[in-house]
Amino acid sequence: MERVGILTGGGDCPGLNAVIRAVVRYGMMQNWQIIGFRNGWKGLIDDDFILLDYQSVAGILPKGGTILGTSRTNPHKHPDGVEKVKSTFNKHNLRALIAVGGEDTLGVANKLYKEEGLRIVGVPKTIDNDLNATDYTFGYDTALNIAMECVDRLHSTAESHNRVMVVEIMGRHAGWITIEAGLAGGADVILIPEVPVDIDKVCELIKKRHARGRVFSIVAVAEGAKVLGMEVTLDHEKDDFGHERLGGIGQRLAEMIEKKTGYETRVTVPGHIQRGGSPTAFDRILGTRFGVKAVELVMQEKYGRMASLKGREIVDVAIADSVGKLKTVPPEFYKMAEIFMG
Ligand code: F6P
Repeated sequence: MERVGILTGGGDCPGLNAVIRAVVRYGMMQNWQIIGFRNGWKGLIDDDFILLDYQSVAGILPKGGTILGTSRTNPHKHPDGVEKVKSTFNKHNLRALIAVGGEDTLGVANKLYKEEGLRIVGVPKTIDNDLNATDYTFGYDTALNIAMECVDRLHSTAESHNRVMVVEIMGRHAGWITIEAGLAGGADVILIPEVPVDIDKVCELIKKRHARGRVFSIVAVAEGAKVLGMEVTLDHEKDDFGHERLGGIGQRLAEMIEKKTGYETRVTVPGHIQRGGSPTAFDRILGTRFGVKAVELVMQEKYGRMASLKGREIVDVAIADSVGKLKTVPPEFYKMAEIFMG
């Protein structure tokens, strides 16, 4: 019986279990044995795996997170990491490996395919929706809806207390969740990494609104937003992929708004709530379709390729096209959102 491996790497997100379930169910129809490596690339370095079958994926479709566990391990940063990955790959005599992840996990997949000749196909995931070469990643829709609900819920308390409410939203260096949650929830100011702004401009927008008789404002700020002179990192320690932990801009911004406008201001940070819980129908279906496509890519021996959503179609693209450059919010989209600010 041929063996096919699967791993989930990077930050978890809703919809990962839909992919695993689809790969196991469709893979077993091809008479493959599916091996789930635990905790991302770490599972291949440590040869830590579980065998997956119908029983292991029963009931996981509505569950958030990943039954395989995940990590931000980069084999290229570990002593003998690449050699260990290769040795596990060969030990199990894998026909192929399905790597489910974002920019970092797929970057490793691409390197291992190109430099070591490993037979790998990719599936794109991230709540940040910042991966090139696919219109959407699964996980984004769920996170967006949670962030939108936060913006929605802040309205009544902001209005009752005549306050400015700042909500700090995830997304790393892309403003997708913030701009779309802000637009869908009717935020009065939206701040994203792609469009640097001055604190005085932010206060002007709030004052303009209050001058119209509105007694409260909602500010949606991306964790990586560029408000000139404001720090966005929690600490400068870097992970295996060179990322610093973002956070804190909401608090800094709230303090400055209160100081400069005199309006009472509070801050809310939904944080990992945006990544937790049950996936939306959109993410369950996208994850399922991506999982089926990944199996097809293995059947067709299209290694170095990745499932991708283009319009309504699932197609395949080179993994290389999805890494290296982030998909960020275009200026014209922000311009449109500005119509509703202030
Ligand atoms: O990439 C997904 C993401 O949730 C980002 O939006 C956020 O900056 C980061 O992961 C948080 O990472 P961690 O779970 O390691 O705190």
